[in-house]
Amino acid sequence: MGQEANNFLCTDMPTTPRPGMGRILVSGASGYIGGRLTPELLARGYSVRVMVRADSPEYKERWPGAEIHVVDALDKEGLKKAMEGVYAAYYLIHSMLLGTKKFESADIQAARNFREAAEENNVGRIIYLGGLGDINTRLSPHLRSRMQVAAELRKGRTPVTVLRAAVIIGSGSASFEIIKNLVKAFPVLPCPTWTRTQCQPIAIRDVIKYLVGVLETDETTGKSFDIGGTEILNYQKMMQILAQVLGKRMIVVPLPFSITRIYAYVTSFFTPVPARITMCLMEGCKNEVICKNRDIHEVLSFQLLPYKEAIARAITREEQDRIHTRWSDAYPPAHELAIKLRELPQPPRYTTRYSLLTSKDSAPLFQSICRIGGKHGWFNSNLLWRLRGMIDRMFMGVGTSRGRRSYSDLRINDVIDFWRVEDLKPKEMLLLRAEMILPGKAWLKFEIDSPEGKDLRRLSVEAFFDTRGLFGKIYWYMFMPFHRFIFYDIINQIEKRSQ
Ligand SMILES: NC(=O)c1ccc[n+]([C@@H]2O[C@H](COP(=O)([O-])OP(=O)(O)OC[C@H]3O[C@@H](n4cnc5c(N)ncnc54)[C@H](OP(=O)(O)O)[C@@H]3O)[C@@H](O)[C@H]2O)c1
Repeated sequence: MGQEANNFLCTDMPTTPRPGMGRILVSGASGYIGGRLTPELLARGYSVRVMVRADSPEYKERWPGAEIHVVDALDKEGLKKAMEGVYAAYYLIHSMLLGTKKFESADIQAARNFREAAEENNVGRIIYLGGLGDINTRLSPHLRSRMQVAAELRKGRTPVTVLRAAVIIGSGSASFEIIKNLVKAFPVLPCPTWTRTQCQPIAIRDVIKYLVGVLETDETTGKSFDIGGTEILNYQKMMQILAQVLGKRMIVVPLPFSITRIYAYVTSFFTPVPARITMCLMEGCKNEVICKNRDIHEVLSFQLLPYKEAIARAITREEQDRIHTRWSDAYPPAHELAIKLRELPQPPRYTTRYSLLTSKDSAPLFQSICRIGGKHGWFNSNLLWRLRGMIDRMFMGVGTSRGRRSYSDLRINDVIDFWRVEDLKPKEMLLLRAEMILPGKAWLKFEIDSPEGKDLRRLSVEAFFDTRGLFGKIYWYMFMPFHRFIFYDIINQIEKRSQ
């Protein structure tokens, strides 16, 4: 990995690498925390096996030297194979994207399978990052589920180290993106009662130091630790400090009631995070999440980042367009959305293609294609795309406001508004898969080629729609009159903007 790619790594770890201990398994590697932890372990010389549910060629580039194992934790037999020859296994799996009704049972099942597979393979230890909260109080389904996972993992013979954290502050974290976008969107912010609940936020950097630190400190085996930053704040105060750092004036209007679900639904329109996740997280904000057990400081001691510094760092990374992992890297709710165009049993029946010829080179054309979406918008028909995104949001879909991880760089699996990069061949092709709510599956493919006998490049866009139902067919024909206008316009703009 180059210097730039590595610049998010922690250089001031409190412990010494011990790569001789054996193979380390990182589950949830495609997620926010797992995606940050894996390069740290690799950089420290560990032999790392990452566990992902869907493979992507981009993973080999992102984690050079790591062994990639494709398995779903709900598949018991697959998990057993993934644990073969493993010394320590990180449990960073989280099914929150399934929504409140489904994630609890999926998370328990995944934890049970993980514990059994670890036992069968005599894994030395499991390390789990869960959530803070007092088990004796009425916890939100999200926090309760995090506790249940810890209890489930601990039922076996394999010693489990549990780290319990509250809100994690870092570029790309869902909680941070919600707070930041609320602060940016509302000069006058109504604050329900739960925004006055106490919380102990922690910087992502410090979480990674703890995750690596416990692996490298034998005394932590089988123990549970609360981890938190230097301050105890409430969510209102956290937003006020963030407004200060952003140089924004924000007036807080305290409300005397809670209205969590409606608040989460309405505010999800102003943040890139879909309602399904804002609801889970805001429900959790009703519970006090502060560190009660401070034992971690006796075994792992280092200077923790104050809240203000953690947000300043997160904002700097965003401004410098250097976000390493983002909450949206994990797959969306319906896992079948991960089905690739080439994996369909038959090619989609509904397709449409538009092309133009240009004398411009393929490199600038491809660069221009890769800039679509996010804050630059979809070039000309922005209003239509935004309207489509709003409709998607109203139905609890992902909408367009997820934006992009980076504006200069695009990799497979990256999100672009309500699309995901399925395939990418530099200077040739970009294939996007739709993750919006649709009566079918849709793809958008941009291609650059050179027609025979001509010293010109052909820039094309092709839309694919796979549907079986009547509603899907109606949907396709309803939007057909707009295809020419939208798609021809996109490639025209891509061509014009390429330099
Ligand atoms: N992020 C925070 O602010 C925060 C705060 C406190 C505690 N934590 C804890 O940290 C842990 C990791 O959180 P995160 O933020 O990294 O979550 P995340 O970004 O949502 O990632 C979740 C990961 O779990 C994987 N996963 C879900 N279901 C799976 C299954 N059935 N089989 C295999 N993999 C599965 C996902 O893989 P796919 O890509 O295939 O979906 C993804 O890699 C969680 O236990 C969470 O409670 C996080």
